[in-house]
Amino acid sequence: MEKRHAGKVAVISGAAAGIGRAFAVRLAKEGADVAIVDINDAGHTLNEVKATGAKAAAFRCDVAVPDDILRLGDDVEAAFGRCDMLINNAGVFPSRPFADIELEDWRRMLSINLDSVFLMSKRFVPGMRERKWGRVVNMASNSFGQVAPGLTHYIAAKGGVIGFTRALASELGPEGITVNAIAPGFTRTEGTLAREPNFRGLTSEQLYGILAERQAIPRPPTPEDMAGTLSYLVSSDADLITAQTFYVDGGLVRAS
Ligand SMILES: NC(=O)c1ccc[n+]([C@@H]2O[C@H](COP(=O)([O-])OP(=O)(O)OC[C@H]3O[C@@H](n4cnc5c(N)ncnc54)[C@H](O)[C@@H]3O)[C@@H](O)[C@H]2O)c1
Repeated sequence: MEKRHAGKVAVISGAAAGIGRAFAVRLAKEGADVAIVDINDAGHTLNEVKATGAKAAAFRCDVAVPDDILRLGDDVEAAFGRCDMLINNAGVFPSRPFADIELEDWRRMLSINLDSVFLMSKRFVPGMRERKWGRVVNMASNSFGQVAPGLTHYIAAKGGVIGFTRALASELGPEGITVNAIAPGFTRTEGTLAREPNFRGLTSEQLYGILAERQAIPRPPTPEDMAGTLSYLVSSDADLITAQTFYVDGGLVRAS
């Protein structure tokens, strides 16, 4: 693979599993050094990334906890010197009917899926500003653009991510920093496989198939599909792409 990210340092949250692991492996194969961030043990990802020959380290961090992020920032700078690409991928998506969502559930959802994007950006964007170059990519969800029952708190958080992405892009554009979001379709990962039963009692396996049939391109999205889009967004080919949300869902969300 072409080493198009050589010399760059990527910080990827939620990289122990699923889409985040695919992100880490893809950017490493293309030459980036990778800081793997997760609340859980990320040894598996670390081994995969190191096998590519890239420089890598794993950091335990709960992205909902401000002090964890401050410590992470210091640790990443000690290990790698800087962060050029911030990938805010960590997220949770428990499905629950609106009637059963308590304020505590709502706040937990927003803190992990939205506050974290703010806090990580606060910590890592200043260094990008100093160097006049940077990439921020936030994980949204295509559930923002389609009917998805049982996810009011999740979709509110992801809608916030899309709004934050646009607004931050407007501020940072003149400083050489792009800010974009990826909105995946329902993708086979540890997280979606663990969420049983799904909406209306469906298993995840059933749901991958049902949604794929409604897509323009009728196959379930994979973590590697997301990684291809990420690689483009952080590359110099995307120098003029900012404030965008890329729906990577086979055309499930479309104008008509
Ligand atoms: N998989 C999908 O179908 C899908 C669809 C739309 C959006 N997304 C979004 O993509 C992202 C990744 O999803 P996934 O399916 O790979 O999830 P996953 O559950 O497979 O992996 C998520 C990773 O994030 C980590 N994590 C969770 N909470 C954390 C915290 N507080 N601090 C640090 N790490 C934490 C987990 O330990 C895990 O390693 C999420 O933001 C999710 O909302 C996923």
